[in-house]
Amino acid sequence: MANEKNLILPSDPKANYLVHKEEIDSAIHNVLDSGKYILGQQVRSFEKEFADYLDLEFAIGVGSGTEALHLALLACGIKSGDTVITVSHTAVATVAAIELSGAKPFLVDIDELSYNMDPVLLEKAIVENVNRGIKPKAVVAVHLYGYPANMPEIIDIAKRYDFRVIEDCAQSHGASIGGKLTGSWSDIAAFSFYPTKNLSALGDAGAVVTSDHALVEKVRLLREYGWKERYFSDICGFNSRLDELQAAVLRVKLKFLDKENSRRNEIAKIYDDALSATALRLPRVVVNDIVHAYHQYAVRTSKRDALRNYLKDNGVETLIHYPMPVHQQKAYFGRLDIASGGLNNTEKVCKEILSLPMHPHMSDEQAWRVAGLILDWSEK
Ligand SMILES: Cc1ncc(COP(=O)(O)O)c(C=O)c1O
Repeated sequence: MANEKNLILPSDPKANYLVHKEEIDSAIHNVLDSGKYILGQQVRSFEKEFADYLDLEFAIGVGSGTEALHLALLACGIKSGDTVITVSHTAVATVAAIELSGAKPFLVDIDELSYNMDPVLLEKAIVENVNRGIKPKAVVAVHLYGYPANMPEIIDIAKRYDFRVIEDCAQSHGASIGGKLTGSWSDIAAFSFYPTKNLSALGDAGAVVTSDHALVEKVRLLREYGWKERYFSDICGFNSRLDELQAAVLRVKLKFLDKENSRRNEIAKIYDDALSATALRLPRVVVNDIVHAYHQYAVRTSKRDALRNYLKDNGVETLIHYPMPVHQQKAYFGRLDIASGGLNNTEKVCKEILSLPMHPHMSDEQAWRVAGLILDWSEK
């Protein structure tokens, strides 16, 4: 049994603060001294720096990833009664945001290798809806675990059937396809900066990104009571502002995102090399032009719970993303529209998936210890 000091955590937001502590503390003190705590220079600078990072024109800091998705959907004109297609193998927030916009989620299955939306099934779902007289208005493509969804094909389908595409980039900061970063493929995209994410705040935070002037204008209004001018609401809006403190923290951490993602890739390589001979199904091998952000390193085994318990008994904490697909959860069960082919891959994967410890501040030794334990277990 490992003592508390030797515990290996699935993610480590505190370590991510401590390695940048001096810079973060100084940035926080500057905000405290400035007396400007909401929508000031820090938010404006972060928005510019994050948009530049993505090679987009605009980023709008908002309160969370869920709110980023909600505002992105509203900016796209999604409204009550519309149909929006997404997956069930995702954080519940993806589906919750669609419902917040008033739309009806329509769920399609994932492909078993990438764990992301299967574009073939997406097209089938659109045809199925059109045959019932429904024209889906948008698709929310999730880049789960930091592996990009098949954006070239999804965008191609969107052009042929004329619907909006929104990327859910909550787990994919810095992931790319052919050098083009996730978040820059679609009309508009949503990021979360929850403390465990690859780019993380010290609390809740999010951003909406786009290069579309009309969309950004709408998001700006929606973020703050519909105000174009202070105290004068042009449209009905919300309060979903990124605050100055979180923006200052994010500005420090953004500078390290690529380096920390490279470190995640090094940990993944240790796992890949050590575990390739086991019966575990490893994350899809990264092909040519895809850069994986390795938000999670999710393995698959039919003996998932036994492996998880074994690791826990030996001081290694793991997580399951996610233990139950959205459509089976109590709040949603029986009332979400599902593609006629069903969600077989989603339901199968949920029972077998296990996220191994993965964060940029793990040492090689820790990664080898996790891998070694799994090797011992798999030989038993
Ligand atoms: C895929 C996905 N979408 C949306 C969200 C929601 O982000 P937040 O927790 O910042 O609201 C998350 C975060 O957990 C997520 O992982």
